[in-house]
Amino acid sequence: MSSGVISNGSRSSVRKSFPPPRSNFVTRGLATRATSNTLNTGAKIPALGFGTFQDPDSQEETVSLALRKGMRLIDPARVYNVEEQVGKGIKKSGIPREDIFVGTKLWCNDYHPEDVECAVDNSLRDLDTPYVELLMMHYPCTFKRGADRFPRDAEGRMIRGETTFVDTWKAMEDVIKTGKVKAIGVSNFSKGEIETMLEKTGTVPAVHQMEVHPYLQQKEFNKWLKEQGIHVVQFSPLGNMNDFYRQTGWSKGTAHMKRVIDQPILKEIVVKYGKSTAQVVLAWGINSGRSVIPKSVVEQNLEVDFELQPKDMAQVSVLDAKARFNDPSLDYEWRLNSDLEGIDGTVKGRTH
Ligand SMILES: NC(=O)c1ccc[n+]([C@@H]2O[C@H](COP(=O)([O-])OP(=O)(O)OC[C@H]3O[C@@H](n4cnc5c(N)ncnc54)[C@H](OP(=O)(O)O)[C@@H]3O)[C@@H](O)[C@H]2O)c1
Repeated sequence: MSSGVISNGSRSSVRKSFPPPRSNFVTRGLATRATSNTLNTGAKIPALGFGTFQDPDSQEETVSLALRKGMRLIDPARVYNVEEQVGKGIKKSGIPREDIFVGTKLWCNDYHPEDVECAVDNSLRDLDTPYVELLMMHYPCTFKRGADRFPRDAEGRMIRGETTFVDTWKAMEDVIKTGKVKAIGVSNFSKGEIETMLEKTGTVPAVHQMEVHPYLQQKEFNKWLKEQGIHVVQFSPLGNMNDFYRQTGWSKGTAHMKRVIDQPILKEIVVKYGKSTAQVVLAWGINSGRSVIPKSVVEQNLEVDFELQPKDMAQVSVLDAKARFNDPSLDYEWRLNSDLEGIDGTVKGRTH
């Protein structure tokens, strides 16, 4: 394990001397590295970030705390109803805006090309910032345009929009030109959907934010995304820790599997590092070259950027049960992740 701080964005560069040089993303202590990865735009994205789904009322305080403790990547979304609180948290932290990477997400009712820039303006207003480092399409499916985020017909079925994600992507490309958004990316896309975008548009997504954890490693897809120059941000990096998955029923039985962090294999690994199993799971993502965005500001999540030996990386690898927890396909009227692993057994569960 290194005792230095990675400060210049290079995963292989470890400083052995102290103090580390000034850099955008470094303020954590000597016990941890502060890895960042380079996007296909040339910009840097921190490997460790903070998820903001749920608990809007606490976000101002927790975002501020996360930033003050050294996290530099914040992951809000329009549909989480947290952008205002996140904006306040950023201000409250006192950390300069240019030292923070904010990536927010467009929601599916705002996908009509004529609505995209206005939706971005609303996000920027609430986040109280003139720009975001990243704007992602939250899902590939388009809902009926209008104020209703979950537009349903009389039977409760989601009403689909008339445009496609390719139309939305082109409008997002235009927003980059305004300077309001520095990079664009996607979330919850299948390989085929990304291929369609690459074929029909000019911009390779900078990021794919998708479900990845030891139970859903998506090895082939991750390899392919890397070849395309698309950086992966792992959501739900701890797998089925979030009770939300047990409650929605989207993945029914699967959500009730033993929690990833209770796996005996991990308990064997942690002894060597003096870390918790949750820390090892997050370190596995970072050591795989991806970013992780756990939703929790517990102190231990700040100390997860440490080197895992190859044999321990291989040990985590065996946990790949191909178990997907985030699958609202039946509710959204769109077969998500259609060419990817872990889509068997999806059931209908409504969250809104
Ligand atoms: N793009 C998308 O469609 C999408 C979908 C899902 C999530 N996301 C993003 O990913 C973020 C994280 O997702 P998530 O909440 O599903 O997954 P998660 O961070 O893997 O799991 C969160 C759960 O793990 C617990 N936890 C966190 N750190 C822990 C630790 N060190 N030890 C023990 N328990 C710990 C939390 O408990 P406490 O809360 O009690 O601390 C919470 O119950 C979200 O906030 C959101 O930003 C994006």
